[in-house]
Amino acid sequence: MVAVSSHLLSAPGGPRSVDAVAEPLGNGVSVQRDDVVVGAGAGLAAVVSRIEQVAPTDVPVLLEGETGSGKELLARLLHTRSQRAGGPMIRVNCGAIPAELIDSELFGHERGSFTGATGTRLGWFERADGGTLFLDEVAELPLAAQVRLLRVLQEGTFTRVGGTKDLRVSVRVVTATHRDLRAMCDEGSFRSDLWYRIGVFTVQIPPLRDRPEDIAPLATHFARKSGISLTGVPLAPTSSELDALREYSWPGNVRELAAVVERAAILGGGRRLEITAALGDARPRSSTHLAAAPPAQPPAPPVDRLATLDEAMRAHIVRALALVRGRIEGQGGTADLLGVNPHTLRGKMRRLGIDWSAYRS
Ligand SMILES: Nc1ncnc2c1ncn2[C@@H]1O[C@H](COP(=O)(O)OP(=O)(O)OP(=O)(O)O)[C@@H](O)[C@H]1O
Ligand SMILES: [Mg+2]
Repeated sequence: MVAVSSHLLSAPGGPRSVDAVAEPLGNGVSVQRDDVVVGAGAGLAAVVSRIEQVAPTDVPVLLEGETGSGKELLARLLHTRSQRAGGPMIRVNCGAIPAELIDSELFGHERGSFTGATGTRLGWFERADGGTLFLDEVAELPLAAQVRLLRVLQEGTFTRVGGTKDLRVSVRVVTATHRDLRAMCDEGSFRSDLWYRIGVFTVQIPPLRDRPEDIAPLATHFARKSGISLTGVPLAPTSSELDALREYSWPGNVRELAAVVERAAILGGGRRLEITAALGDARPRSSTHLAAAPPAQPPAPPVDRLATLDEAMRAHIVRALALVRGRIEGQGGTADLLGVNPHTLRGKMRRLGIDWSAYRS
């Protein structure tokens, strides 16, 4: 069930309630369990209100904002506030699909349609039937794929690669980009007819430096989460730590703030926040080599009980990830540091619920 803070509208026909996860934040709005939009009543109020306005319609929505500003989180909010909330929400990173596979990924393929097509495959449009298809990094779609996407949006039908049957699905398309699509249209790298189509309703997510009032509640939120995940006890920044955080310009936006606070919690052994040290580490360096990283302090042993093996392993992996900014593979990557195969490390991280992307910068 989707729950919202009392001052916000719930999905049409849906229940009105306050979620315990959102409550301590005052201005937060809960997307899913443990998935809260902090600042919904402050710096993101206008954004959330636009999302609430457009959510019940089936109009395509384009989310624009700098890296780490919250596009994906807000796309999920849009889905949970829509009448499609009971259906799937499929996210496709358009920048990560090799150009030659895009058609097959989006529209599926019939068995034998190309070498390697050993079976029929449903594309993302078919998988998102009844729900929302979130095309992330849409600016990275090659021009040929842009033409086909436009056709689906205009005609509502498509065919699988190697197929002849026209297929029709009920999908709401939400797109996101950190690029300037208008400029890309001007220079010819993005089709303007597709831009008009996906941008019927655009939501601009302001960078964090333009909504400094959100920094304290966000830092409080991430400190609480980090403390709980490291030792089971929530942490909270002091007012002078919040001042220090407000002085920084946050080029990596909310993702960077989350990483700094988590790093601060790790450097403080999970029992206090080392904001100054973590902020020092946030400033760009010429190399991410470990030698350039500030010395990390070993986590303090828990006072009242020994950490379980999983907790200790989790804290150790998280610490290594924070040191190398989320890089898993290669020399000096997390797997290398910990002396394990990257594949094994990914398996352990999945099992322990560690999201490496939170450490990326
Ligand atoms: N308002 C917010 N409240 C709580 N968490 C947030 C908020 N905005 C962003 N986050 C968190 O910050 C991280 C980055 O957000 P998200 O992935 O949505 O950004 P993005 O704009 O899609 O970034 P990118 O362009 O790099 O893909 C996520 O972990 C997300 O949950
Ligand atoms: Mg994103």
